[in-house]
Amino acid sequence: MEDLVDHWEQRLRERLAEPAPQPMGLATGRTMDPFYRLLVQRLRSWPQKDFERLRQGWLSFNLDEYVGLTAAAETSFAATMRRHLGEPLALRSDQLRLPDGAASDPEAEAERYASALQMAGGLGIQLLGLGINGHVGFNEPPCSDAVRCRVVQLSDATRRQNAEDFATDPRGVPLQAITIGLGEILAAGEVHLVVTGAAKAAILQKVLCAEPTPAVPASWLRQHPRLWVWADAEALALVRATAMPEAPQEVPGLY
Ligand code: GLP
Repeated sequence: MEDLVDHWEQRLRERLAEPAPQPMGLATGRTMDPFYRLLVQRLRSWPQKDFERLRQGWLSFNLDEYVGLTAAAETSFAATMRRHLGEPLALRSDQLRLPDGAASDPEAEAERYASALQMAGGLGIQLLGLGINGHVGFNEPPCSDAVRCRVVQLSDATRRQNAEDFATDPRGVPLQAITIGLGEILAAGEVHLVVTGAAKAAILQKVLCAEPTPAVPASWLRQHPRLWVWADAEALALVRATAMPEAPQEVPGLY
């Protein structure tokens, strides 16, 4: 995780020098908790002047939000982002953007969010976690590489995976979400897929070792010219066991 934080820290430094930097694309999920904790520590150690400039210029768009949850709801991704970044970095809510899960017309909200992202310049550096069924954001399988920001139905697998935040009851997990699509993600400047733990080993093998397919939405990421995969040894176990032309440990970004 330190290497990933080094990389983002470097990109954030470079961003300071850009006249009109593209927004960052951010993700939620337990995988990201240590990343945000370490990143905040790092940024707080910057000289005050640089830290202030970074804070003033911050603009990020999160991938997704549950339909039906207000930003104030503790289980919303908006609340997660406030805890991880908004409060520690003292960011305004308009600097840390997410779809509005409580919008009365979710389809219209998905369109509004997509246009806001486009108006802001599209995604620059994008952080991604991996769902146990191969989703990124909430792009559930099957899913083409061209889908845009929209309202989606959450699968049973995803609702089970995310039940921990809802008193461990999958029935408490909302049925729908608004998510940025593979189309917008593949247009990002740089993509970082972060995968940890043995529970993700089987799906990571499908993502990296099989042909890209709608059945594994994250497999489309392999079309991206600047994809980084940051995976720990547990998540990589089956990839390492698969005959691959090059040793995965020699691929930058894998650890
Ligand atoms: C949710 C998010 C995804 C995230 C996934 C992985 O479903 N919508 O963006 O990648 O969770 O979650 P975790 O990191 O908790 O395994």
